[in-house]
Amino acid sequence: MRTRIAAGNWKMNTTLNEGMSLAHRINEFVKNYSLENKRIILGTPFTHLATIASSVDYKKISLAAQNCARWEKGAYTGEISAEMVRSTGAHYIIIGHSERRQFFKETHEELKQKVDLCLKSNLRPIFCIGEKLEEREANLHFDVVKKQLTESLFHLDHENMMHTVIAYEPVWAIGTGKNATPEQAQEMHAYIRTLIKEIYGISTAIEISILYGGSCNAANASSLFIQPDIDGGLIGGASLKVDDFIEIIKAL
Ligand code: PGA
Repeated sequence: MRTRIAAGNWKMNTTLNEGMSLAHRINEFVKNYSLENKRIILGTPFTHLATIASSVDYKKISLAAQNCARWEKGAYTGEISAEMVRSTGAHYIIIGHSERRQFFKETHEELKQKVDLCLKSNLRPIFCIGEKLEEREANLHFDVVKKQLTESLFHLDHENMMHTVIAYEPVWAIGTGKNATPEQAQEMHAYIRTLIKEIYGISTAIEISILYGGSCNAANASSLFIQPDIDGGLIGGASLKVDDFIEIIKAL
């Protein structure tokens, strides 16, 4: 049975104290909440990972970095390696978020290197894919998503693929308040699962968690998560509001 996931992507928000208080409140909620087959992930800034990882119930809450370097180690001032992320107690790295593709010009090849380093450090990638508005309007959204998967993820062997989480985040829905409809999201998630099935077989396709992201909030989470191929969400803005994030957890 695949894991259902509510993953917060805090982006470049919260000071360490604010982040600790947010994590503390989520931790208080999950204490008395059954999370069978479900996982809560907090994608915090690098600076918060170690502190928050050691202060929450690791059986219920995992930490994720939002990026890692594409090199293993060395003279790359300011970069943070996958291995360093692992040493904080985090278990996931968000890789290929559209903001990184857009503002940092991350290429398919770089993202492939990051995915490999993440897995080599025994961490799980949350690999983000999704089309821009003009690509959807030109009916290219399936092609775009297929290329993103093919160039950066589908070189993985079966075992590593099983350790990967995919997040479908249409770029036009991120931070815009305009989420994909449940039908649009389901259609793409089903397509992604078909692609995985063609390469890795039915059991991997069934087991892999595919999250939806893009203006997912307390009000629309259940209508998205009820879709058969949507296994939870990667949540930006709403993950910074405790009450909203708790509602999203409840919708899993
Ligand atoms: P949003 O962001 O929920 O604020 O749209 C989602 C994301 O960027 O992962």
